[in-house]
Amino acid sequence: MNKWQEMYKEKLTTAEEAAKYVQSGDVCAATCGVGEPPMLADAIAERAKQEGLYGITHQLMLTLHPLKCYLPEYQDHMSSIHWFIGGPGRKAAQSVKGDYMPAYYKDVPPLWRTYAKADIAYATVSPMDKHGWFSYGPAAGEGRAQMERARVVLLEVNENMPRVHGSQFIHISEVTALIENNAPLPENPEAPLLEEEIAIGKHISHMIPNEATVQLGIGGMPNAVAASIMDKRGLGFHSEMFPARAMDLMEAGVIDNWNKPVHKHKSIASFSVGPKKLYDYLDDNPAVEFHSIDYTNNPYLIAQHDNFISINATLEVDLIGQACSETIGPVPFSGTGGQCDFVRGANMSKGGKSILSMFSTAKQGTLSKVKPMLTHGAHVTVSKNDIDYVVTEFGVAHLKGKTASQRAKEMISIAHPKFREELTFEAKKLNLIP
Ligand code: COA
Repeated sequence: MNKWQEMYKEKLTTAEEAAKYVQSGDVCAATCGVGEPPMLADAIAERAKQEGLYGITHQLMLTLHPLKCYLPEYQDHMSSIHWFIGGPGRKAAQSVKGDYMPAYYKDVPPLWRTYAKADIAYATVSPMDKHGWFSYGPAAGEGRAQMERARVVLLEVNENMPRVHGSQFIHISEVTALIENNAPLPENPEAPLLEEEIAIGKHISHMIPNEATVQLGIGGMPNAVAASIMDKRGLGFHSEMFPARAMDLMEAGVIDNWNKPVHKHKSIASFSVGPKKLYDYLDDNPAVEFHSIDYTNNPYLIAQHDNFISINATLEVDLIGQACSETIGPVPFSGTGGQCDFVRGANMSKGGKSILSMFSTAKQGTLSKVKPMLTHGAHVTVSKNDIDYVVTEFGVAHLKGKTASQRAKEMISIAHPKFREELTFEAKKLNLIP
């Protein structure tokens, strides 16, 4: 046994014992997605409830676990603050006890280093190597920034966490205590493509030249886009998220990263959620590197790639080109994430395009997602001055460099036909068109 393995043995404990490091008022910060440590978070919530501790927050980015701190009986002791809302935490985030942190994802590590200090930094990591290092796996976004100023660093070591290439590792000497939990990682089910998604994928495919570098965002849309670009050649991949479809594109040789000016031959990302076969693919795969989010999402790095095409989903866009991708009206749904980081990077890339995509309607076709004005209380994720292309199943609206009146006409042209008359009427009332 070498000295790091001895140190591992000394620091190995149970979740209940590890939870004893937590005090009332502590900020417990988890790294994103599959890096969230469910056993530690639940043990802390349990201790807080049993011991009557108060004011503890679980701060998270894209929760994927149904944690105890979302249940009403725990919320007087441990509540949640969502930097990006995931499915299992959505109800809690939307309740009065939950809270929401607006931020560009690229700014999250610097925020942890300045305004938001973690008392407890915790993460699920891959097993330790012989040199004493754990990989943050495909959850590389902000874990190191959180642990740098934390009073206590707790790890949940999971043999199912892929050990990925890139820059985000933590050493046993930096850790206060660790536990082992080999539960399967949360997975994103693969959904079959809808007719509208296929139509959107085809529109977007025409906008991507061979040898471009692409980013694929979160939500249903990457599926559709990836399926429709199987005939491209020499693509590069630089993204915050690495979706399962990017693996398919790499295995098919569509993405080969040969033409990238930086990180040649490598796909670059910061986090990933997918089926188990994706985690297996990422494990010890030198063709995919994971880096901290302030690195991957830096618009100046993105802009170094000519023909950078960023593709993200949005919830609604108004006639002037303001896009809301994170709330439904005033109710938080997801988060800003890196959408605007990539829109800005693509805008600065020579030949770059940023594409926001959405179905033309929601709620079984009863609601237009092209709006005269954003819904009252909706948060602007991409401003009218940043927006470039918007795509629905009915076509492509190009807004950059267009006047207010031209934008209104472009947006109406991609709305569902049954809403176009009403939108034209509203556009006239708003003096957008004569
Ligand atoms: N008004 C009311 N409801 C709406 C709506 C609108 N304008 N638009 C969508 N909805 C409903 C949908 O009907 C759906 O409801 P359901 O779950 O009952 O079917 C739900 O909201 C989710 O919409 P959907 O389009 O399926 O969302 P998605 O899972 O594909 O995610 C975003 C889309 C925009 C929420 C997601 O991409 C996101 O959070 N983006 C911001 C962050 C980002 O892009 N980061 C960069 C890449 S990682």
